Amino acid sequence: LKVSLIGVPTDVGAGVRGASMGPEALRVAGLGRAIAAFGAEVRDCGNLAGPSNPELPAVNGFRHLAEVAQWNLAVHQAVYAELSEGRVPIMLGGDHCLAIGSISAVARHCRETGRKLRVLWFDAHADLNTATMTPSGNIHGMPVACLCGHGPEMLTGIGGEMPAIRPEQIRQIGIRSVDEGEKRFLHDLCVEVFDMRYIDEIGMRATMEQALAGVDQDTHLHVSLDVDFLDPTIAPGVGTTVRGGPTYREAELCMEMIADTGQLASLDIVELNPALDHCNMTAELAVDLVESLFGKSTLMRMHRNYR
Ligand code: ARG
Ligand code: MN
Ligand code: MN
Ligand code: MN
Repeated sequence: LKVSLIGVPTDVGAGVRGASMGPEALRVAGLGRAIAAFGAEVRDCGNLAGPSNPELPAVNGFRHLAEVAQWNLAVHQAVYAELSEGRVPIMLGGDHCLAIGSISAVARHCRETGRKLRVLWFDAHADLNTATMTPSGNIHGMPVACLCGHGPEMLTGIGGEMPAIRPEQIRQIGIRSVDEGEKRFLHDLCVEVFDMRYIDEIGMRATMEQALAGVDQDTHLHVSLDVDFLDPTIAPGVGTTVRGGPTYREAELCMEMIADTGQLASLDIVELNPALDHCNMTAELAVDLVESLFGKSTLMRMHRNYR
């Protein structure tokens, strides 16, 4: 297994500053060492470069559109290059707008190699806003819409093919904050959403079985982990906390069940904000989850098959 860490130190898509420090906080928490401990060959590609945060108000419904586009173009190219070399790219955000670049690259790689794509979107938010619906203009609230072809061409066109993905390729897990316009749009696009109420009612194990249903040997599994997915009591280092998220054990179970499929092929870790964190605990938690994602388990369990 060959893994590549791609740091993307920007918060141009967020409303609160600080996620630009995420890549270094994850390295300090030992992300590379933790993955290498599972026998993977880890390449740290360092950090991508891009424009600084101009801290300007929204224009026509978008804040920092040109800067967001520039960063995402760099992410697309870096993620695509690592995938082409047969490596598992881990994009270290940065805010969640960067999923436009990474997932468009993954989708392009899948088209070219004839693999099916399943995106697991772990988040408190649906991130399905458009310029007319957005309450903030922050583009980290729009990546899912852009990837599905709803957004400015500067962002929707990044993968070469528009739309980059189809809504039926996505499963959203942990959702508990959805804006009015997003609610309607999720329904219209038929996005499969496992919100917190659903998880409360049927449990995390059954939820993940359903989110992973149909994943087979030909499936490229992409995990987009917005750290605000986690309950803020265990993950305070995020700019957009929402109460009532999954516990430590529930989150670990998600990651272990993904590892059991053996199909994880790319990952985003986004929205970690060290300026709001306590002694790097949220970065350390993210590293724990990544260990599980790469196969850490307490016992020598036979890998279960959830397909
Ligand atoms: N829905 C809100 C907005 O669009 C919050 C989005 C938060 N997104 C995130 N990736 N943390 O402004
Ligand atoms: Mn591949
Ligand atoms: Mn979020
Ligand atoms: Mn998000």
